[in-house]
Amino acid sequence: MISECLKKARQYENSHRSAVDKDRPLFHLTPPAGWCNDPNGFSFYKAEYHLFFQYYPYDVSWGTMHWGHAKTKDFVRWEYLPAALAPDQTYDALGCFSGSAIELDDGRHLLIYTGCYLPEDAAAPQIHQQQCIAIGDGVNYQKYAGNPVIGPELIPDEYDGIDFRDPKIWKAADGYHLILGSRRCDGSGSAVLMYHSDDAIHWQYDGVVAAGDDLLGRMWECPDLFCLGDEKVLLFSPQKTEHSIDGYESVALTGTFDPQQVQELDHGTDFYAPQTITSSDGRRIMIGWMQSWASKEYKMTGTGFFGEMSLPRQLSLKNGRVCQQPVREISNYYGRHHTFSRLKIQGELLLAQIGGISYDLTVKIYFDRDPSAFKVLLRRFSDQYFSFSYEPEKNTFHGDRSQAGIPDGIRPGSSFTAPPAGNGFILRFIVDRYSVEVFINGGEHTATYLINCPGQSICLLSEKEAAFDVDFHEIVRSE
Ligand code: FRU
Repeated sequence: MISECLKKARQYENSHRSAVDKDRPLFHLTPPAGWCNDPNGFSFYKAEYHLFFQYYPYDVSWGTMHWGHAKTKDFVRWEYLPAALAPDQTYDALGCFSGSAIELDDGRHLLIYTGCYLPEDAAAPQIHQQQCIAIGDGVNYQKYAGNPVIGPELIPDEYDGIDFRDPKIWKAADGYHLILGSRRCDGSGSAVLMYHSDDAIHWQYDGVVAAGDDLLGRMWECPDLFCLGDEKVLLFSPQKTEHSIDGYESVALTGTFDPQQVQELDHGTDFYAPQTITSSDGRRIMIGWMQSWASKEYKMTGTGFFGEMSLPRQLSLKNGRVCQQPVREISNYYGRHHTFSRLKIQGELLLAQIGGISYDLTVKIYFDRDPSAFKVLLRRFSDQYFSFSYEPEKNTFHGDRSQAGIPDGIRPGSSFTAPPAGNGFILRFIVDRYSVEVFINGGEHTATYLINCPGQSICLLSEKEAAFDVDFHEIVRSE
């Protein structure tokens, strides 16, 4: 049975989707209409990858959360499916928040999500959170009559039900497991809690997977736990951290999960709440929300949608660091190809033979003796461009979008250090209509930026003479 609330959302997205089509990026997933945030329910089901997302179809602002739905065979070309969940029950009336999905043994698809509600007996009106499920066939989902499946009675005493969300489920030889983020009642920090179940419906509390104090964020949102080789990796997105510039970042912990030893997953301005999946051929693939809460008030693209997903990335572990590479399927969409070999540059060079809006560009820099300051300008027209530069004295990269068409008040860029590979750097830029994703030295460091500049030119600048190899692939899509 489809509720009136879900029917209304489906009708709305159906009648508004095509009006937004002309404004969409080429190969990054955007909501059919309105707002999206976190990726949810990333899962392999009936030979396709399903992705759900936090969704408010009616406006380009956050609202009472639904789950939007899309699927793909190759992580690049997405097909929309009708919205999957709407906030139509008392236990989720204030929003169907983030969660995950898994195929059950009987072939049905299970979604587990956070239901937001107002408890009747609460002394003061305060939204609470609990975990709920819905089961379906890849298009339509029926909420479970016994929801919630993890309610207040399954929250350990030291944790509260106000911040208690974002379940990530997986199956092991001994049954189903899930982790979620929570916050201690006394406000002293956040933790990832673990539960187990034999049937994915009846759950028991297991314990704390990792915990931290308020320095690493008031709330650890959207946790994910998996193995890369023999090493366990925990991802989460600490909300309102004191040390990060705008308070939101995504991090990885390995080893003993010591919160002092976090790796920032992406050093750019726009990457949050990632979720992973094992692909049918065994790769660990991650997708993130390519946006930041810090810029939610700014409708940068000026279009009928707000929010995009990153290009999915394959993860690996190198010297204890999580490395990220664009999924290899992107090469199926390569169009025009052009290379330059050992270009000697001192000063500025416009690469007139290449450019465009959507492309995969690798720039290798070889320093002769001393490292030189250099810049890559993308999507340039006149004085508008996105600049990615290197400052050798501080061994620091700067992603700068102050000339990239974003409004005042949005963080103009980010800076971070990354060690050279040999006598230079390998920089790979995945560029689409409103975004640049940078992968440094085989994905040891990444940085993601939303931009909004119309230009198409690519320029290289080097202070001292340096040699550059350039490998350019246009990205194209025929319907
Ligand atoms: C993370 C988050 C989640 C929550 C969802 C609500 O971006 O705050 O913790 O479930 O967004 O839309």
